[in-house]
Amino acid sequence: MERLQKVIAHAGIASRRKAEELILDGRVKVNGKTVKELGIKVAPNDKVEVNEVPLEKEAPVYFLLYKPRGVISAVADDKNRKVVTEFFPGIQERIYPIGRLDYDTSGLLLLTNDGEFANILTHPKHEVDKVYVAKVKGIPLRESLKKLDRGIMLEDGKTAPARTKVLSVDKKKQTSIIEITIHEGRNRQVRRMFEAIGHPVTKLKRERFGFLTLQGLSAGEARELTHHEVKQLRALALNESKR
Ligand code: URA
Repeated sequence: MERLQKVIAHAGIASRRKAEELILDGRVKVNGKTVKELGIKVAPNDKVEVNEVPLEKEAPVYFLLYKPRGVISAVADDKNRKVVTEFFPGIQERIYPIGRLDYDTSGLLLLTNDGEFANILTHPKHEVDKVYVAKVKGIPLRESLKKLDRGIMLEDGKTAPARTKVLSVDKKKQTSIIEITIHEGRNRQVRRMFEAIGHPVTKLKRERFGFLTLQGLSAGEARELTHHEVKQLRALALNESKR
């Protein structure tokens, strides 16, 4: 089930805000009945019409972007900062990011116009591994990293077990490069996990999402996912939820 204004926006008819106006103006029907409230949700087989014309779904598209730092994972920003969709000039479809990377985090971000696919991949029960490389202050003790591996208490609850690996340490500068694999997607999770063990993150990059990597891409570049990759991702998310 998805919100009516989102469904209209994803069909490529109008922005979400314009879709809301269309609904409030009484120009939208669901299964033959005019709907004037903004809250309602519709199922994929509900018949939606705008100005008496049935909605046709946009053909789904799927992209992998190497997001640079200093970019917002959104389609618009009220502070006029650069947003991830600016890396897709000329694209007709209304794509949006699947989940989020912080403004200061670089790395692998997926974008699509397929709401169902986005929901599957972002739902916490679908445990797709995400691999990050973090530069942190100090040199964490093995015991501190084990706390992350076991799961650590944050203000929004205990994290699921992570996997950490020290890639390098710089004794002179007192910094370390740590690889961490998690499958949750809480807000600023990796930064908060390292903060909790007293080693704040100074640089963060997502290297992997499931089996997908950044191979062949430079920061700011994107590629379309293959049909096979999309199928595999869906299967990965759905199978892992049954474990
Ligand atoms: N964890 C973070 O702290 N930031 C991100 O962007 C992604 C995961």
